[in-house]
Amino acid sequence: MGKYGLVRQEQALRKSETQVRAILETAVDAIITINERGRIESFNPAAEKMFGYAAREAIGRPVAILMPPPYRRDHQRYVRRYLETGQARIIGIGREVVGQRRNGTTFPIYLSVGEHKIGNQRFFTGILRDLTERKRMEAEILSISEREQQRLGQDLHDGLGQLLTGAALQTKALAAQVLTVAPALKPQLERVTDLINDCIVRSREMAHGLQPISDSAEFPTALQELGFQTEKLFSIDCPVRVDALPPQTPLSTAIHLYRIVQEAIHNAVRHGGARRIHISFKAMGRSLKLSVRDDGSGFPQVRGRGMGLRIMDYRARVIGAKLDIRSTRGQGTTVLCSLDLPVKSRWEETHG
Ligand SMILES: Nc1ncnc2c1ncn2[C@@H]1O[C@H](COP(=O)(O)OP(=O)(O)OP(=O)(O)O)[C@@H](O)[C@H]1O
Ligand SMILES: [Mg+2]
Repeated sequence: MGKYGLVRQEQALRKSETQVRAILETAVDAIITINERGRIESFNPAAEKMFGYAAREAIGRPVAILMPPPYRRDHQRYVRRYLETGQARIIGIGREVVGQRRNGTTFPIYLSVGEHKIGNQRFFTGILRDLTERKRMEAEILSISEREQQRLGQDLHDGLGQLLTGAALQTKALAAQVLTVAPALKPQLERVTDLINDCIVRSREMAHGLQPISDSAEFPTALQELGFQTEKLFSIDCPVRVDALPPQTPLSTAIHLYRIVQEAIHNAVRHGGARRIHISFKAMGRSLKLSVRDDGSGFPQVRGRGMGLRIMDYRARVIGAKLDIRSTRGQGTTVLCSLDLPVKSRWEETHG
């Protein structure tokens, strides 16, 4: 290669280096590179902002400083396993993890990791997106929809319900008068009365579906009622064992738990073809355990792509619970939700 060829190559190299740097500098996502020993090699401005470390402080330190303690151990284990076995848990995929800022606060992150080699050295590049705002929005949307449903339920019950009751009374009075002059109209009049009464029952049921619980003390009765309705509607067994919620459990927690059970029942019937669904809710002190166990088909190899499980997961997270779904093909599915109610009353203020 001639002298000019070399110069051109060098120019091209410099240009691409400048471009790479510009990408790193201006990226909205945090981009962090680590080496095989888990030490930070590069830390872009978005990472500085996200974690509160300057790049020069972060570089050279173990990446574990960016994670809260339980995740540190996991991370070391993942890296070691990957280097030994080549089995990737996260590389090329991406997952939700928890980050820790310099000041010790933690926050949810979506992390995707890529790998590259320079010579025989391996590096991992993580791209991180702060999920705090998204999670807050998700929680907000859920609570808005819950409030809307409550309001609709109330309107239906108080507004429409009252009107229908009025209509039923007037019809009854009118029927009495009409019958004195036209007794032949009796069957038609009875049909009208029946229709109005059906409307009352139906609007009550709808109101109840929209607003199953208006006080957390109603939780056990509401679950029992749900089990009873399930038995009636689908002709299956649905035994319910339910403890009362500890006093001062926020209403929102009761509603989220109820909706989780509701979706689990739906799925068990619709997808699992269950003949029996056990619902159990235990409260030991402030530690709560909910389980919905069905004897259906278990998850199919190719799952449907609905919203139900995802919303269940959000609900669990919003109330600070852990959701665990176990499924064995041919033997059914169990949805477990466990949660420790915090003793602090501030939590009740924010979640109540
Ligand atoms: N109890 C269950 N038994 C068997 N398969 C299940 C069960 N629960 C969920 N699944 C499988 O998981 C998939 C996803 O469930 P999910 O509740 O998220 O969505 P969906 O029920 O299909 O739709 P949606 O809930 O939005 O109406 C289902 O389509 C089904 O394949
Ligand atoms: Mg579903």
